Amino acid sequence: MNSELRNMIFPVFCWLFVVALMPSASVAVDSPAVGESCMVVSAHPIATNLGLSVLREGGNAVDATVAVSLALAGCEPYSSGLGGGGFFVWFDPSAEQVKTLDARETAPMTAHRDMYLIDGQPDSYLSRSGPLASGVPGLVAGLWELHQKGGRLPWKDLVLSAAREIRQIPVSPMLQTRIEWKKEHFNEAARLVFLPGGKIPDLGSSLVQEHLFQTMKLIADHGPNAFYSGPVAEAIVEVSTGNNQSGISLKDLAAYKPRWRDPVHGQYHELDVYSMAPPSSGGVHLVQMLNILEPFDLSGAGFNSSKSLHWLTEAMKFAYADRSLYLGDSDFVLVPVQRLVAKTHADSLRNHIQSDRAFPEESIIGAPLVHTESNETTHLSIIDSQGMAIAATLTINLTFGSCRMAPGTGVLMNNEMDDFAAAPGTPNAFGLVGAEANSIAPGKRPLSSMTPTIVTESGKVRIVTGAPGGSKIISTTLQTIVNVVDHEMNALQAVTAPRIHHQWFPRKLYFEEYGISPGVQNVLKGMGHILQSRGPICNAQIIVVEPETGHIEGASDPRGMGMAAGF
Ligand code: GLY
Repeated sequence: MNSELRNMIFPVFCWLFVVALMPSASVAVDSPAVGESCMVVSAHPIATNLGLSVLREGGNAVDATVAVSLALAGCEPYSSGLGGGGFFVWFDPSAEQVKTLDARETAPMTAHRDMYLIDGQPDSYLSRSGPLASGVPGLVAGLWELHQKGGRLPWKDLVLSAAREIRQIPVSPMLQTRIEWKKEHFNEAARLVFLPGGKIPDLGSSLVQEHLFQTMKLIADHGPNAFYSGPVAEAIVEVSTGNNQSGISLKDLAAYKPRWRDPVHGQYHELDVYSMAPPSSGGVHLVQMLNILEPFDLSGAGFNSSKSLHWLTEAMKFAYADRSLYLGDSDFVLVPVQRLVAKTHADSLRNHIQSDRAFPEESIIGAPLVHTESNETTHLSIIDSQGMAIAATLTINLTFGSCRMAPGTGVLMNNEMDDFAAAPGTPNAFGLVGAEANSIAPGKRPLSSMTPTIVTESGKVRIVTGAPGGSKIISTTLQTIVNVVDHEMNALQAVTAPRIHHQWFPRKLYFEEYGISPGVQNVLKGMGHILQSRGPICNAQIIVVEPETGHIEGASDPRGMGMAAGF
């Protein structure tokens, strides 16, 4: 065996060993779930099983998405929920069309550019934990809109089925750990739910979410009006209003509208890639990185070789630098989407990539940044027996969002306002720098990294993918696609394989511990890359459809506790 081959294989063995030992891994690491007609993949087994039963009862991918999203809201209250938002990428085979729905939170009408500055400095308490940290939630309106356009089973049945699942949930190690992290930050209403009797709940005990159940029941009976007006809305206003009455108002809630947007579209080899447009940066930079990588022989260089890791890293650096300059809510600022996803733009960036040397970050743009991050947010991938597919990424931003629950409702509020640039040029919680394009304005949507993506081949679904993980979402989604397309991995290999991440600044090539062999690390260091090992990167959920046979594989990332299941 030659040394390059040994270098490539060694870390994969080490990695599989590490993954097998992960306490939360509930999925066998040897083969993906398979299905002949349907597949549901989500970050929680309860949500996946519910989605599967919706499909078995004759529901379609839209119906399953409604049920799975609401189940995730209750099963992973630290990741997404009614108090948050998300993006949906929807492949409808009857229309041979991909549509995308933006249910991102909006800044309240009282929001203004400098609202988080104290003496000219951004105050992260205000944008992450205080009453003014929340944007107007979009999830409920988004699910309703999606269901109105494409649902088959009654809304009421779908919402009730999720409500019943989340009324009491088993306390998993993931939930328990996160409650421990955030116990000092919860408001009184959240403490009553997550610290019953004032204590961290025991593993395996049942966490009772009666108020959330009742809120979902109201939404089942009366639709989104039960959320955006009336007692639930009043409680949201109560918990999201600052001293001088700024924050979310009843008018903000009544005015919330999800938006249908054109997907970002790219071509990678013979495949069509559809992903989320602004206010997500995910689609633009996913396509941009694929464009940069397309002429490189990733397959020939081999997975995890120094060459392929170098190319991936350089593509990430250029894309994340562009992100900081140009991306924001395209309803408010001109985002040059077509220029950024053009092959010619990728060609000009690729010209800077040298085969033996890392391009210096400081020669691209910017200044050193602080880097803190969270792995929350959630993703689900679904395909039904008609070939209809949905990729959805949902979030309340950081762990348990703002940790503030609207009293009597079970609705935990997001802290999505931290995804704006509080002071343009200052990094947010993910260490991403936002330029003027992402400054705060009333009604504007904060910039996101969420990258729900559907890849098609000859008009049929080939890959449904996405992940949580803040700024790492875009680079992770990229790697899941490259793993399938270039490295011919099956679904489980594609989400299990070790990952890297570089976001231009900080000047670091992050890699998962044991993910790169010492030999390859030395080659990369010799090129000028600054390597930094770290813990698991993201929790991807993927479906891969074999083009010739239509055979469906699904896999939930063993870094998380999710599940893939099909029939
Ligand atoms: N809040 C994480 C994201 O939208 O990317």
